[in-house]
Amino acid sequence: MKNVILTLGILLLMGACNEPKSKEEPLTEEKELALATEAAVSAERGKYLVNAMGCTDCHTPKKMTEHGPEPDPELFLSGHPSGEQLPPLDPSQVQGYLAFNMGLTAAIGPWGTSFAANLTPDETGIGSWTEEQFLIAIKEGKYKGMMNSRPLLPPMPWQQYRMLTDDDLKSVFKYLKTIKPIDNVVPSPIPPGA
Ligand code: HEC
Repeated sequence: MKNVILTLGILLLMGACNEPKSKEEPLTEEKELALATEAAVSAERGKYLVNAMGCTDCHTPKKMTEHGPEPDPELFLSGHPSGEQLPPLDPSQVQGYLAFNMGLTAAIGPWGTSFAANLTPDETGIGSWTEEQFLIAIKEGKYKGMMNSRPLLPPMPWQQYRMLTDDDLKSVFKYLKTIKPIDNVVPSPIPPGA
């Protein structure tokens, strides 16, 4: 009996976890079925992964709204805006904290200041990247997806995204190649104390 109750409890819990949390475009049953039966590598699956994994949190500049900053759909995944000046920051005031700009596209921490990359298929983004480069960037955490380049800086969570299968990463890349190209040269990171 105890076991039955436990099993029921677990099932209920699983049910609760499966409920779509986001108010935006919850997956319908048809959609879930389509995703499950579709080719292992597809832009549609990539779109689903990009939306669910929150790439836009850091990679899309925000518009200020009455609910606070929200991703600007016009600048979807175009990275930290090249012309944006960061407000001056007194390091002594943020000691023991990490700091983000309002758009969450720039982050300041012990690694210095990092700027979220342009993930659109423009030449200033990933337009000239190969699929292999994209896999190396995410799986090995390497800038521009080149083995001999510098490690990717925080807060890019590649250590988590590398857990995805190659097919899922290829799907993400395929989807990114379909979004609107945006010309934006993201600034280079600033070393600590500079
Ligand atoms: C918490 C913030 C954050 C999230 C979420 C995030 N990124 Fe990043 N990402 C960054 C930052 C910051 C950089 C730049 C790091 C650097 O310059 O070393 C970056 C860099 C990258 C790069 C390397 C670009 C280059 O020119 O080398 C790729 C590719 C990338 N991100 C893809 C993604 C994808 C795909 C997602 C979603 C699945 C994602 N990121 C989610 C912050 C984030």
